[in-house]
Amino acid sequence: MDITPDRILETGCSFWSSKTLLAAVELEVFTVLARQPAALDALQKQFGFQGRGACDFFDTLVALGFLQRIDGVYQNTPETALFLDKAKPSYMGGILEMASKRLYGFWDHLIPALRSGEPQNECRTGGEDFFGTLYSDPDRLRVFLRAMTGVSRGANQAIAQKFPWADYKSCADVGTAQGDLVAQIALANPHLQGIGYDLPVARPVFEEYIAELGLAGRVSFQDGDFFKLEMPNADVILMGHILHDWDLPTKKMLLEKAYRALPPGGAVVVYDSIIDDDRSQNAFGLLMSLNMLIETPGGFDYTGADCIGWMQEAGFRECRVEHLIGPDSMVIGVK
Ligand SMILES: C[S@@+](CC[C@H](N)C(=O)[O-])C[C@H]1O[C@@H](n2cnc3c(N)ncnc32)[C@H](O)[C@@H]1O
Repeated sequence: MDITPDRILETGCSFWSSKTLLAAVELEVFTVLARQPAALDALQKQFGFQGRGACDFFDTLVALGFLQRIDGVYQNTPETALFLDKAKPSYMGGILEMASKRLYGFWDHLIPALRSGEPQNECRTGGEDFFGTLYSDPDRLRVFLRAMTGVSRGANQAIAQKFPWADYKSCADVGTAQGDLVAQIALANPHLQGIGYDLPVARPVFEEYIAELGLAGRVSFQDGDFFKLEMPNADVILMGHILHDWDLPTKKMLLEKAYRALPPGGAVVVYDSIIDDDRSQNAFGLLMSLNMLIETPGGFDYTGADCIGWMQEAGFRECRVEHLIGPDSMVIGVK
């Protein structure tokens, strides 16, 4: 086998392509081109580019597969037209806007994070923590909650299909954000009643989304703070992208609360970018865990075996891991 430096260089410089895509999202290039495909001179004018670099910027987006150029006219690909046009409900750029404006800079502090074990986001300069920063601005909160829908939709649909819902009548999604998980489950399983549980600030965004989907009769919001209150009673309790935000005692506390809220035979479903037990394959899950180092005081991602151990400690049995899509898997436990 030939040994080449290609992968080393590609990964070492992948921040070039990352920042090019993030800049295009921040500038709303895909939203502009969804309205009207355009040639270089029109794009230069639109974005106030002085000239040098402009052609390279748009052609790089072509070469990376995020734009097409036909007879000198730039347009979106089917992927960017669907997911990066702000005018569409399927827009998932919110999470990338956040990556561009916040995370990109914070990741420059990876070495101090590793040395100190301390978060490197707004907390570092005396600002509030992650959720505090988010909740202090209603627009930012709305963008974040919607962005979670974009990021989680594929896994949510997989859970709605793969879990044995016929055996249960109700579910509660803890840390529901806009409510896409409980919505996808309710859409695919008309016999189910669902609750979305989150901090009260999430209620209007949740209720608007659920009403748009025509699910208001079966899916409702419950104000909650899982540090202070018990979880809602339901046959199945779900937590998507929740456990990785918190330290080990909080992870265990959340699983204990889920256990208390379930009836005998009820199930807990936890999902995240679950790391493979050997911690050598799911690079996205491991990078996500480093992201939790940067963003939170105690959060980290975990393997299926870790999660099964915590579930068993809380009293769950028949624990198992099932792959969803991409880097995401769910861990299921039965009371
Ligand atoms: C990373 S998001 C995950 C959203 C959604 N489950 C998903 O996977 O797309 C974390 C969610 O936990 C909620 N959350 C944070 N602290 C909470 C608390 N103390 N009680 C209830 N929900 C909380 C946030 O408001 C947010 O909606």
